[in-house]
Amino acid sequence: MINVAIDGPAGAGKSTLAKAVAKRLGYIYVDTGALYRAIALFVIQRGVDVYNASKVAAMLPMIDIELKYVGDEQRVYLCGENVTSVIRTQEVSAAASAVSAIAKVREFLFDLQLEMAQNNNVVMDGRDIGTVVLPNADVKIFLTASAEARARRRHKELVEKGHDVEFEAVLKSVNERDEQDMNRPIAPLKQAKDAILLDTTELSLEESEIALYNAIKDNLPRR
Ligand code: DC
Repeated sequence: MINVAIDGPAGAGKSTLAKAVAKRLGYIYVDTGALYRAIALFVIQRGVDVYNASKVAAMLPMIDIELKYVGDEQRVYLCGENVTSVIRTQEVSAAASAVSAIAKVREFLFDLQLEMAQNNNVVMDGRDIGTVVLPNADVKIFLTASAEARARRRHKELVEKGHDVEFEAVLKSVNERDEQDMNRPIAPLKQAKDAILLDTTELSLEESEIALYNAIKDNLPRR
């Protein structure tokens, strides 16, 4: 199976780009952030503090997460319920960042991710795919952009959806999430030594997609 690992900070356009490129390659796109989001949702719904590692760990045996694919769309099922869209709120984003720092949570999701990669040609996106989950991936990409550029994109997206938010507030949450994701002791967000760095700060979405596709194509093993 061919495994492409794409890591990078929140808002670098990873999911949009990885999804588009997976489609062009005919591979399955696996959004691993959605798995952490599903756990976060489960914890929030039960009123448990997402920073309480032992309480969160104790809930894991109750959690059943499944990924299903309908066409090229990934759907996330939490204990049988389709939570694909409800895991996209700001509240769940912040909570996902918190639960993703818990070692037991990462262990819990490890096998599910590995299994997806062993059984399918995948473009898998996350924070530790090239470093921890798929250290032997065929191609590794570290996709990034400046915090300002990422906050600008996110702000535009929120305004277009009708949300009344200040740019400064979005920038603050981008910085906080970076800080949390990059400085946690377990599986922090960092570029794998053998990953190709792709900085999209100055690129449009179309240009980024071409750059990503070419970087993958040029580095896939020849068979
Ligand atoms: O990519 P995202 O914004 O949906 O990810 C949600 C959170 O999950 C993010 O704060 C970092 C964490 N995450 C992680 O630690 N490891 C991954 N492989 C994917 C996401």
